[in-house]
Amino acid sequence: MGTLWINEVSKSFQGRKVLDHIQFQVNEGEFVTILGPSGSGKSTLFQLIGGLLVPEEGSIILDGQDMTGKRGSISYMPQQPALLPWRTVLQNVMLGQELRGKKEEEKAREMIQKAGLGGYEDALPGALSGGMKQRVAFIRALLSPQSLICLDEPFSALDDFTREDMHEWLLSIWSNYRRTILFVTHNMDEALFLSDRILVLSTNPARVIHQFVVPFARPRMHNLLLSNEFLEKKRELASFVKRGNQHE
Ligand SMILES: Nc1ncnc2c1ncn2[C@@H]1O[C@H](COP(=O)(O)OP(=O)(O)OP(=O)(O)O)[C@@H](O)[C@H]1O
Ligand SMILES: [Mg+2]
Repeated sequence: MGTLWINEVSKSFQGRKVLDHIQFQVNEGEFVTILGPSGSGKSTLFQLIGGLLVPEEGSIILDGQDMTGKRGSISYMPQQPALLPWRTVLQNVMLGQELRGKKEEEKAREMIQKAGLGGYEDALPGALSGGMKQRVAFIRALLSPQSLICLDEPFSALDDFTREDMHEWLLSIWSNYRRTILFVTHNMDEALFLSDRILVLSTNPARVIHQFVVPFARPRMHNLLLSNEFLEKKRELASFVKRGNQHE
């Protein structure tokens, strides 16, 4: 469950092509990142996958079913945590399940504990820091019944220290509750640290110009970012990113 096939998808706004025959696949349990500059069409791609937009060309196949233009098939975590302020942490985390009529409170409580938020189950989002809110939003995404989780630059609003903590936390919780993840960012370090595979997008219009397999063993710790092997891979990735930005 959670296999995604993006098949030759194109999308224009007011006659300007933003996505140009985007094609790639995400396999079950994989962590794939789409790396592209601001305005390249990353969020547009997510809106297409989530069925909020319909492509002019191409199709979106999830677990073998054509989901083009159909909503509700993915678990989507936006850039801002979008928690409901009047619901407690526990109630927010269980929202996706409630919408599908399935409740697993024990599992929710266990995940809140693992996220370092034990004791905050009954707190309201207003009492949490930015990083804590993102943890709650991510647990909610993990607990949702949909097989594919799409994360749209979830950590871009956080400071560097909090973001590094969040990366390690995200990977540890992902290794416990393995799901298929499609992640979007413009940050090369983040993409290299988190992913199994990176798709580099060009811009104006966006095409997949390179697929990059990340070789680092898991579990990964943040001192990886200072290692020679990491910097070497980053240089390699940067050369493709540069090419993508020069495109047309
Ligand atoms: N609903 C819309 N109507 C018109 N143009 C749009 C619409 N949505 C997006 N665009 C345009 O499509 C392009 C891609 O936007 P998108 O938000 O997908 O980029 P992005 O890669 O997510 O950028 P960022 O990293 O800043 O979030 C931009 O030029 C944007 O102005
Ligand atoms: Mg965006």
